[in-house]
Amino acid sequence: MTTPTWDDAYTGATPAPWDIGRPQPVFARLAEDGKLSGRVLDAGCGTGEQVLLAATHGAGDAMGIDLSATAIERARAKAAERGVRARFEVGDVLNLGALGSQFDTLIDSGLFHIFNDEDRARYVASLAAAAKPGGYLYLVCFSDRQPGDFGPRRVSQDELRAAFSDGWAIESITADSFEVLRDLMDTPAQAWLAVIRRT
Ligand SMILES: C[S@@+](CC[C@H](N)C(=O)[O-])C[C@H]1O[C@@H](n2cnc3c(N)ncnc32)[C@H](O)[C@@H]1O
Repeated sequence: MTTPTWDDAYTGATPAPWDIGRPQPVFARLAEDGKLSGRVLDAGCGTGEQVLLAATHGAGDAMGIDLSATAIERARAKAAERGVRARFEVGDVLNLGALGSQFDTLIDSGLFHIFNDEDRARYVASLAAAAKPGGYLYLVCFSDRQPGDFGPRRVSQDELRAAFSDGWAIESITADSFEVLRDLMDTPAQAWLAVIRRT
C-alpha cells in the first residue's frame, strides 16, 4: 500500500473536507478589515480561495504555494474564470527561502496543524525567511477546544506561543472557527486565529 499524498486529497472520489469552495469566514473578515495587504503569501493555499480573496481586497501581489499540483491547477483555473490576478506555484512551505523574496502578509489556513513537532519547527523557520520584518502572519488552526477526533491534530495556545517564541511577537490568539464540508461536520470546527508579527 502506498502512503497517500496531499495530491490524493484533491483527486480522490471524496472531496477534501477543507476545500469548501469559498474563503474561510475568518479570512473574509480579515480581508474586510484590510489586513490582507501588501505582498501576500498563502502557505499551503490549496485551491486558492484565500489568495483570490486577498487579490480582490487590496493585496499588491497575491501568491499561493502548495505541494499539490492538482490544487494549484484548480487555483489557477479559478483565477482565470474569475478574472483575478494572482500567482500560484507548486512548492514546499518548508523551504520558502527558495522563493528569494519576502512578504508583508502571510496566510496559514489550516496548515500549521498538519505538522509533527519536527516539521513544525522547520515550518516556522521557513516562514521567518519569507516574512518582512514587521510583517504579519495570520494563522488559523484546529484548536484543542474542538471535541472528538475527526480532523487534524489539535493545537493549544501554549503550543502556538512556544512555536513562535523566537523572532516573532504574538499579538493575539482568539477563538474562531474553521469550516469544513457540511456532510462531515454539522458545525464549524473550533479554531484559533493567531495574529503574529515578525520582529
Ligand atoms: C488542510 S489543507 C488547507 C488548504 C487551504 N489552505 C485551505 O484553507 O483550503 C493543507 C494544505 O497544505 C498543503 N501542504 C501540506 N504540506 C505542504 C508542504 N510541505 N508544502 C506546501 N503545501 C503543503 C496540502 O497540499 C493542502 O493543500
